[in-house]
Parts: sequence; C-alpha cells; structure tokens
Amino acid sequence: MRIDVLTILPHLLESPFSDSIMKRAQEKGHLELVIHNIRDYSTHRQRSVDDYQYGGGAGMVMTIQPIADCIEQLQEEREYDEIIYMTPEGKRLDQGTCNQLSGSKNIIIICGHYKGIDQRLRDIYVTKEISIGDYVLSGGELAAAVLVDAVVRLIPGVLNNETSALTDSFQDNLLAPPVYTRPEDYKGHKVPEVLLSGNEKKIQEWRFQKSIENTKKNRPDLLED
Ligand code: ADE
Repeated sequence: MRIDVLTILPHLLESPFSDSIMKRAQEKGHLELVIHNIRDYSTHRQRSVDDYQYGGGAGMVMTIQPIADCIEQLQEEREYDEIIYMTPEGKRLDQGTCNQLSGSKNIIIICGHYKGIDQRLRDIYVTKEISIGDYVLSGGELAAAVLVDAVVRLIPGVLNNETSALTDSFQDNLLAPPVYTRPEDYKGHKVPEVLLSGNEKKIQEWRFQKSIENTKKNRPDLLED
C-alpha cells in the first residue's frame, strides 16, 4: 500500500514510522510512505499556507492552492482509493474502518492545522473525514500516525504469527482477554489455573468469558452493536 501524507510539520511524522512494525512494513515492501511538506507546494512569495477566514473570527484557515496542487500532482501519477482528511469533525475511527482501509492500494491523508482547511478542499477532493476521538489535537499529524499504524498492521504479511491481529481487541466487537507470562506466582498473585492446564478447549472458553466480562465492564456499548 502507498500512503501519501500532506502536512506542514513533516518532522512530526518521522519517528512514528521509523521503528518496530511500521519500519519493518516499509522494509518488507508492504508500505510505501511518502510525506509531503505542504509548504513546498505553495506558490506564494513567502511559501505561506494559511490565511484569515472570511467572515472574521479567530484562527487561520489552510489555503486551497498548495494542498490542491499537491493532490492533483499525485493524482496524475496514480489513482487513489481514498483522500482522507483528519479532523475532529470526522467519523470516529474504529476497527471496521481500519479493516476496510487496509485493503486499499493508494491513500492520501491530509493533516489540518489552525482552524482547518478551506471547505472547498473538502468538497472537491476529500472522500473520507476521520476523527480519532472526541477531543481536539493541535494538528492532524498525531491522528494520521494513529490511523496509519492501525491500518498498516492489518495488511496481510505485516504482522507475524506472534503479533497476529486476529486476537486483537475489537476484531469481533469484544475487548481482548487478560494475558499472563512468567512467573506463575508473583508475590502470591497467581496465574489463573486454567491457563496452566494445557486444555485448549477450556482455555478458549475462559478467554471468551473474560473477553465478555471486560467488554461488559469497560465498553458495554460494543455489546449493544
Ligand atoms: N485533528 C485535531 N483533532 C483531531 C482528532 N481528534 N482526530 C483527527 N484529527 C484531528
């Protein structure tokens, strides 16, 4: 999958993708990540990327020209499945959307700043608006990093057996069950007996029960879906 990220703060996006699973996904050829500095596309004398909002009010708006030019240049080179705008006004990200996006070939992600991008960019180019939660970040970069991580780990071949996404929370609308490792007894706090039993069927049943208990306790809304 190729992902093009449009940002005014490219450095913010370097570290999340230069380690661990995201790094390996790129090395193994599952992910081609290209970060574009929106400022590089500005035709303004001072490479400006924002302006005052019509109608007045505090906060600048990201202008159409540099973002539109960047998108159009990319669209000349390949077709994009989605052009995503990261915004708290978007649809809340969930595992279902991540699963769906993980089947894409090419995606553009736009990171907003200030009051956001000019509405006409949204009207003309954006195909999906995504929020990572009901809170406001200083910019879309961290949200984009969250989205890319959550999507890329679902591309077949990115995770190995040990890190398989199949047993993650949310894959079946349930939270994951608790996990334990050595020692068996930590200062009197013991690993549940069933996990030491070697009885695969009992272990699966226990894990399923615990998943339901966890979901009832922390996310009852998932069970209603
Ligand atoms: N930009 C600022 N806040 C955001 C959020 N919660 N989700 C996505 N993009 C954002």
